[in-house]
Amino acid sequence: MSPVAEPFATGRPSPFFEEKVTWVRHWTDELFSFGTTRDPGFRFDSGQFVMLGLELRGRPLLRAYSIASPSWGETLEFYSIKVEGGPLTSHLKLIKAGDTVLVGRKPTGTLVLDALRPGRTLYLLSTGTGLAPFLGLIREPDVYERFERVVVTHTCRAVADLTHADLILDELPGDPYLGELVSGRLTYYPTVTREEFLNRGRITELIDSGRMFADIGAPAFDPAADRVMICGGPAFLQDAKDALLTRGFEEGSLASPGDFVIEKAFVE
Ligand code: A2P
Repeated sequence: MSPVAEPFATGRPSPFFEEKVTWVRHWTDELFSFGTTRDPGFRFDSGQFVMLGLELRGRPLLRAYSIASPSWGETLEFYSIKVEGGPLTSHLKLIKAGDTVLVGRKPTGTLVLDALRPGRTLYLLSTGTGLAPFLGLIREPDVYERFERVVVTHTCRAVADLTHADLILDELPGDPYLGELVSGRLTYYPTVTREEFLNRGRITELIDSGRMFADIGAPAFDPAADRVMICGGPAFLQDAKDALLTRGFEEGSLASPGDFVIEKAFVE
């Protein structure tokens, strides 16, 4: 029996898939991404999260991670911070291609298309690693079937934290299949709060001032036409939620689809 299964030696199958790391990319001292193999039996909706981790001293240690790849991908992708002294990330940040990670069998989460009513423009608002679920969703063809326009915003402290600009601005438009879908319909709006940058400030302030809408050439938020997904730190989630509630948006869930949905980004 594999060591991973031992704490669950109940005759039931392990609640985790053992996947192999296929690549690791360190963006900054605090941010990294990695890819893994994907069990053919593992199904999820783009935007969902899953328990992810390592076997440490013979025991599984897992945290909730958004899946940063789309539902149709043959492999999985994750986007993580490196927490100083963090029980999981201080080990996870050392992984290399060929290592084994544990992936829970039950993906879940509210950042899914079916939790939103139909609309015209889909806004994906993120801070930090809150971008992760949206990296899957912007590569999901269903998103472009349901919405005319998709706007993904990413607010970070520093320019170096805007890790996926190349993917969104170069790779996706050049992709043989997705290129046509995203062309003229996917807008990337990065903002930086603690350094000079083209777009400066918190996204919540840029929404309140109308600056974001002017910059991207869109009308102000309208619950009749716009749908919003929000992922990031707790203070951001609260402020963004308040901004939407004030404008008459209703929070949705799978049981009761609405105008916006919210999820906390991974924190160790
Ligand atoms: P700021 O630099 O003004 O705090 P963190 O690294 O702390 O998780 O923050 C990631 C980004 O989220 C930062 O650019 C930060 O801006 C921004 N942020 C933090 N709190 C809020 C909030 N309440 N509303 C909007 N953006 C926020």
